[in-house]
Amino acid sequence: MCGIVGVLGNHQASPILVEGLKRLEYRGYDSAGIATVNGGRLDRRRALGKLVNLSDALVHDPLPGTSGIGHTRWATHGAANTVNAHPHQRGRVAVVHNGIIENYRELRARLKDHQITPETETDTETVAMLCDWHLSQGLTPVEAAKATISELAGAYALCFLFQGEDDLIVAARKGSPLAVGWGKGEMFVGSDALALAPMTNEISYLEEGDIAIVTRAGAEFLDAAHQPVTRPRRTVDLDSVLADKAGHRHYMSKEIAEQPDVLANALKYYTMDKEGRHLLETGVDFTQFDRIVMVACGTASLACFVSKYWFEQIARLPVDVDIASEFRYREPPLDGRTLTLFVSQSGETADTLAALRYCTGQAGKVLSIVNAMESSIARESDLALPILAGPEIGVASTKAFTCQLAVLAALALQAGRQRGVIDAERLGTLTDQLRQVPGQVTQALSVSPQIKEVSAQLARYDDVLFLGRGALYPLALEGALKLKEISYIHAEGYASGELKHGPIALIDEEMPVVVLAPHDAMFDKTVSNMQEVMARGGRIVMISDAPGLKAGGEGAWQKVEMPVIEGPFAPIAYAVPIQKLAYFTAVEKGTDVDQPRNLAKSVTVE
Ligand code: M6R
Repeated sequence: MCGIVGVLGNHQASPILVEGLKRLEYRGYDSAGIATVNGGRLDRRRALGKLVNLSDALVHDPLPGTSGIGHTRWATHGAANTVNAHPHQRGRVAVVHNGIIENYRELRARLKDHQITPETETDTETVAMLCDWHLSQGLTPVEAAKATISELAGAYALCFLFQGEDDLIVAARKGSPLAVGWGKGEMFVGSDALALAPMTNEISYLEEGDIAIVTRAGAEFLDAAHQPVTRPRRTVDLDSVLADKAGHRHYMSKEIAEQPDVLANALKYYTMDKEGRHLLETGVDFTQFDRIVMVACGTASLACFVSKYWFEQIARLPVDVDIASEFRYREPPLDGRTLTLFVSQSGETADTLAALRYCTGQAGKVLSIVNAMESSIARESDLALPILAGPEIGVASTKAFTCQLAVLAALALQAGRQRGVIDAERLGTLTDQLRQVPGQVTQALSVSPQIKEVSAQLARYDDVLFLGRGALYPLALEGALKLKEISYIHAEGYASGELKHGPIALIDEEMPVVVLAPHDAMFDKTVSNMQEVMARGGRIVMISDAPGLKAGGEGAWQKVEMPVIEGPFAPIAYAVPIQKLAYFTAVEKGTDVDQPRNLAKSVTVE
């Protein structure tokens, strides 16, 4: 989603702002712009499309000044074009904004009474119009920003830059994250610490409702009641992971390859003792709950769906899985015996956060599983557990998904033990099986050449189906999601057994069917479903292990051989071929793998 950078520096701001925006590119955007104050004069440059277009504009028409704000926009209100790009400048103020101003129509109507009319289709411009009106009433810039912020409804991270003020940025947060960075005689603002990485690793995060008044001398923080408040300065450990792609062509490829390491790390954290069998005491007492309600979006919700099979089979604990955008508005009943569990890589997904807030005070406990431990979802939970995946930059979630699965699997074992459903021997077996996952993922990565060949074929089709049974069914959904989001091929996932209840009507030789079929207890039934497809001319891509391919692979169009996996955790390693399938197909089609069209890494609007 949108990204914000601000700088009050001692060097030219434009290159620093563009570099900061570059670090936010992974969030997804369709236009970009910067504004600076130079000798008191406020001015801006904006461009549609990638940052290179903004850089070109700045070459032809430089923007001097050592103070400035910058923005990458992911369009919500108004088309993606240069006029709607941020910063929005009206009179003496320029504004950049992440989020949605929900009452912008009302504000526009009021401003119309003062003959102030919009020049863009955006909600954000209304903030600049309102602030400039307050300035015209004699308020100082800080007073005008505060008055403006008090009148806003909705979600925002905002930065204000003022004509005649080259040592002032006013920043505000409600619903969208924002951080202030501390330099030596310089100060910075950014939507996340990574944006500020080259400039500083000393960060203060704004809390909900906070305003920060930033000058080169430092930052003053006001809370939601506009009372002075202290926000701690933290040294953030920004490892060099963002610096390059470690020789990979895309972040997605790098992140897929990192999975054995990050999974080993996460499993060490959650399952280690000297015998390798101890489960980390996470602070969740599963005996207190009759059910779990899991809520998330996209790939994170599919991780929940896979784990439903584990919690119900291993711990006999019923699990409801819901997508966050539907959950809250259904007003589901909750009680003290319900554990609510929110899964989010970014920890900032607006739908998931809104669902979490709905549960706060109603459910027995609000637990979250996140990658970003400084995020809103982590901070607003009773307990937040890390997935330890490291920064994930590719928009398509890969290593975060498998780490979410690993953590959920460890929790399912903990639940089974606490609830007395599995004895020590079974727990030991399952823990050993879980700890074998990083090795299985390494083996799964070695099937890349086969997957590459299959992908070269798949890239020629317009539609693809994915099938799976049991815990491989949600993985089929994930395979379809991954393929469509980065290759733009239409794909759907189905439970293998459901095919004959409708989707089989689609089957012909133009509709390849990817079947996830480990040689497990459900294998024979899956093979029957494959036969039904092949009998109708369908082309099967069978992903299975050696015994499975031998027993059921006859007639399959393409075969991919996975390692043999004992126990219930096969979905984690089987995530690798579907990630690679999407990746190689997208590369074959020449799409933008890391920043697919229309998508954002962190979806901070509902
Ligand atoms: O940051 P989150 O895990 O809350 O994000 C949820 C989804 O937006 C995300 O998983 C999305 O579906 C991915 N692009 C899928 O690859």
